[in-house]
Amino acid sequence: MGSSEDTFSRVGVVGGGIMGTGIAEVCARADLDVVLVEVNDAATDLARERIAHSIDRAVRRGKLEADQAQRALDAVVCTSDFDSLAGCEIVIEAVVESKPAKLSVFERLAQTVGDDTILGSNTSSIPIVDLAVAAGGRSRRVVGMHFFNPVPVMALVEIIPSLLTDDDVTQRARHFVTDQLGKDPIMAPDRAGFTVNALLIPYLLAAIRMFEQGLATAEDIDRGMVQGCAHPMGPLALADLIGLDTVMGVAESLYAEHREQLYAPPPLLQRLVAAGLLGRKTGRGLYSYG
Ligand code: CAA
Repeated sequence: MGSSEDTFSRVGVVGGGIMGTGIAEVCARADLDVVLVEVNDAATDLARERIAHSIDRAVRRGKLEADQAQRALDAVVCTSDFDSLAGCEIVIEAVVESKPAKLSVFERLAQTVGDDTILGSNTSSIPIVDLAVAAGGRSRRVVGMHFFNPVPVMALVEIIPSLLTDDDVTQRARHFVTDQLGKDPIMAPDRAGFTVNALLIPYLLAAIRMFEQGLATAEDIDRGMVQGCAHPMGPLALADLIGLDTVMGVAESLYAEHREQLYAPPPLLQRLVAAGLLGRKTGRGLYSYG
């Protein structure tokens, strides 16, 4: 890396939820111009607030100087105008973990961005090849770029080429996250759950089942894994952090691909999601948050 044609200066992000705003923040803090697209003005305002809140936290923790924070904030444009993505060299899709929603974003992106734009997806589990096919003539430019929550903290990004991805696109995506964003990528296979979620999600589902069956309290399950295995947080608290809708979305993708019971979303998870109790982001999930 090093030559200017290998580096990006303008990044698009589709989706202003926890992951989309986290990715936008990391890009802005890496001195990139960012266009974040949401569906309407209310969602756009919320995305802007999320980024401002997180950047403010970084300043309070002494990780960012006030002038750097202001520069990062100024570098992000949040808009509901999808066509604003037209000038971006790389666009990362981070909308809700729903296949129809993601397919429609890739169909639209293919009609909006330039021929050379790299189309990344932050999907947690949906096959990258399905998104590539939705992008039609741009299928070779589509690559999985899976970040981890909280994005400003977690070093990992999974880079997932599909059967159709150009090698050059995979390499550029990899260099981008390493050299420009300072992350630490691994290559992962294009199968449901890729590498990390194929291992993590069955563990989280097993913890939810254990709690649902009344075999142990939520606190004991979580303390067991924190104090017994030195995990930074227990599986139920982690499921709430990730978002129960996302956990269920990944479980459904894994179950659809493997048809094995260990991937099936437990009834409690399904009911919590149906009730809109999605974890930290809604104030209640497996735990309640003040
Ligand atoms: N945004 C930015 N920074 C954050 C943050 C957030 N949302 N949450 C925590 N941090 C930072 C804090 O500022 C702090 O940084 P410093 O110590 O440098 O000041 C650091 O992280 C530790 O935070 P706290 O002291 O507040 O809290 P903690 O020590 O309990 O750590 C945690 C919080 C980082 C979330 C930690 O518990 C952790 O690593 N948990 C596991 C997270 C994990 O496994 N993520 C992957 C989920 S799977 C996924 O995302 C993929 C998928 O597809 C489902």
